[in-house]
Amino acid sequence: MRNFIAHPEHGIVWISGAGSGIGRALALKLAGEGYRVAATARNHEKLVELQVEAGGLPGSIIVLDGDVTDAEDMEHVMASIEYEHGALAMVILNAGVYRPVHAEDLDRADFEETFAVNLSGVVNCLLPAIRHMKAKGQGQIAIVSSVTGYTGLPTSAAYGATKAALINMAESLKFDLDKMGIRIQLINPGFVDTPATRRNAFPMPALISPEVAAERIAAGLKSQAFEITFPRRFTYVLKLLRMLPYGLYFALVNRSTGWRERPLAAGRRPVTPHPAE
Ligand SMILES: NC(=O)c1ccc[n+]([C@@H]2O[C@H](COP(=O)([O-])OP(=O)(O)OC[C@H]3O[C@@H](n4cnc5c(N)ncnc54)[C@H](OP(=O)(O)O)[C@@H]3O)[C@@H](O)[C@H]2O)c1
Repeated sequence: MRNFIAHPEHGIVWISGAGSGIGRALALKLAGEGYRVAATARNHEKLVELQVEAGGLPGSIIVLDGDVTDAEDMEHVMASIEYEHGALAMVILNAGVYRPVHAEDLDRADFEETFAVNLSGVVNCLLPAIRHMKAKGQGQIAIVSSVTGYTGLPTSAAYGATKAALINMAESLKFDLDKMGIRIQLINPGFVDTPATRRNAFPMPALISPEVAAERIAAGLKSQAFEITFPRRFTYVLKLLRMLPYGLYFALVNRSTGWRERPLAAGRRPVTPHPAE
């Protein structure tokens, strides 16, 4: 089924997590193509800097800061877009956090924060966006997941769990949204050089810049593809890996990452013994 593709004349593009990294580069790319972009994140100053940088581009940036974990905040952002700036044509649900998880040193807060931002944060934006798009009978939605959602990987017990859930969420919603004239797409990047990945203490294969990521996403948003994934030389390898029997899968990931040889808790805080021990 061919579905709606948002062009600048259809209205506003709302991007969550537009203060840095992929979201910021995508906001500039789309503003460069003439879109009016509503940029959301918690850090107001970063959004204002983005707005200034976009001055002179054919499109523009509207600063609407807010916390995606706060459902009421996202209702306000949505209302502000629709009633002060123009119709919502597209939403890109990009805000996300990465907290590495090590099984020998588990912290509940890592799971709770990751689930709140990456999963509930998407739902908090998705609900008001779909309500407005449903009333108009058209709209475009893109959910930023990750190739980490394809399969379990070292340190990804919290992050990967949210990204796998987002893949399933987008697939599941597509069946009904197709019938409502609303197009949903899934964005699964490989490694992109952003503040989120700069702390990684391992070499990131096929690392690309946020600007290249933004180009791939902008092109994918205008295609009929459900999944936008890049760089394919890396992401397609992971697609193949997930098809392997588990024994082979774990052996290959351990070997290619050198994970089995790494000592537990290497370079991190020592595990605090449980008071009962
Ligand atoms: N970089 C990669 O290699 C990579 C690969 C695959 C997928 N991804 C995904 O791509 C998306 C963007 O990641 P990135 O690498 O560009 O990260 P980033 O540079 O750290 O940007 C994350 C953005 O999300 C915002 N954000 C975080 N918590 C928020 C909250 N509670 N409410 C509103 N906004 C919030 C941040 O702004 P504030 O802190 O000001 O709120 C920031 O603008 C994420 O969903 C990430 O999982 C990234």
